[in-house]
Amino acid sequence: MKLSEPYSGNASFDGELSIAGVKASSLAKEFGTPLFVIDEADFYARALAWRDALNKHFGEEAGTVYYAGKAFLNKEVARWIKSIGIGLDACSGGELAVASSVDFPVEQIELHGNNKSEAEIESAIKAGVGTIVMDSFHEIERVAAIAAQQKKIQKVYLRITSGVEAHTHEFISTAHEDQKFGFSIASGAAWKAIEATLTHPSLNLTGIHSHIGSQIFIHDGFEAAATRLIGLLAKFHDHFDMQLPELDLGGGYGIAYLPGESAVVPDEVLGAIAAVVKSECAKHGLRVPKISIEPGRHIVGPTTTTIYEVGTTKSVELDGGESRRYISIDGGMSDNIRPSLYGAKYTALLANRLSDSATVDSRIVGKHCETGDIVIREIDLPGDIAPGDLIAVPATGAYGRSMASNYNHIPRPAVVAVRDGSARLITRRESINDLLALDI
Ligand code: LLP
Repeated sequence: MKLSEPYSGNASFDGELSIAGVKASSLAKEFGTPLFVIDEADFYARALAWRDALNKHFGEEAGTVYYAGKAFLNKEVARWIKSIGIGLDACSGGELAVASSVDFPVEQIELHGNNKSEAEIESAIKAGVGTIVMDSFHEIERVAAIAAQQKKIQKVYLRITSGVEAHTHEFISTAHEDQKFGFSIASGAAWKAIEATLTHPSLNLTGIHSHIGSQIFIHDGFEAAATRLIGLLAKFHDHFDMQLPELDLGGGYGIAYLPGESAVVPDEVLGAIAAVVKSECAKHGLRVPKISIEPGRHIVGPTTTTIYEVGTTKSVELDGGESRRYISIDGGMSDNIRPSLYGAKYTALLANRLSDSATVDSRIVGKHCETGDIVIREIDLPGDIAPGDLIAVPATGAYGRSMASNYNHIPRPAVVAVRDGSARLITRRESINDLLALDI
């Protein structure tokens, strides 16, 4: 039986979980647990859906789909992005290094970050990075000086804070005034940043950028941000009698984590944004700029399932005579910090067998020395789950492995790609020796 959202596109359950035709038990046996299993064909399909929707709704004015590598990036994923032919949003020297290690086309890279170091800016400009998205007045001066030293003219955007309040967790909401990113329109900083950028012959300002937050479902936030940025493009046009040709509307498109939730649909959200962009441009007498986007979570999140092995279980009596089953798995907050950090919710299933046991109120917890090390707070799971069973948690591809830590000196899990019945390692498991090697 094929599984639907939040499981990846090629996940099925026939007596046990299989992903792209590879059984959970054989994955665990060959590669160990915890294990991130990425459904490669699903990744391609999801990335292509964004590219096709952007082309469909913007035609000639379609810019670039930049995959936001912060969601998850390793060398193999960078190769996939390269072969799909879309761009990469990198936000550190480390992410740039991954891209350059696979000869990713540098002109297709956009560099983000609110505090890029001089070394990061130097190596980005030296490598020929397509666009640097500048985030502060200090950075305008830094990028200009480094480009001038290298006798280059660097294509840049300015990150603009639109003031739109995204309907999401505060920590992943980025366009309200009181936060660290970008130049706000309301305070006048955005306009001053434009003027400051234009004073530098080593900078080529081609566009502006907005990212309102992450895990957003309601289209109106994206539409409002686009409207405000187009207002700024119109002001630029009125003032300088020329138009900035590019507009980047960022990422943030929501996905399903729980059964019954529905992800944002690329064709629908970009259709809605295109309608607003076109009408706002017409209103101001502007040409429609080249529109780029930066989806991260929506491309990689649903493609990945984490497989854990159960180590211990226990039942706890609750007030009122109820009881709760604690299921301890061999990972936890070190491979998925999202429940502790954002109160994020996930689902799970017993992956290695079909159980006809009645379900019981269960809590899936990790192996860290911390009470808040909870993967799933409340879930009904078969009462006979026992040590050695496998638990699969879907939709862990975005900000799972990429935010993993070594808390309690636990090595970070491996990542395996599955496709057409076969599995291959794309990031090996960290070893205790890797960790010990850091200490002097
Ligand atoms: N563009 C920019 C400028 C961003 O800052 C981000 C995410 C993205 C694109 C991609 O956003 P996405 O499409 O993946 O939502 N760790 C948090 C999410 C932090 C997002 C940071 N920036 C989480 O686990 O929910």
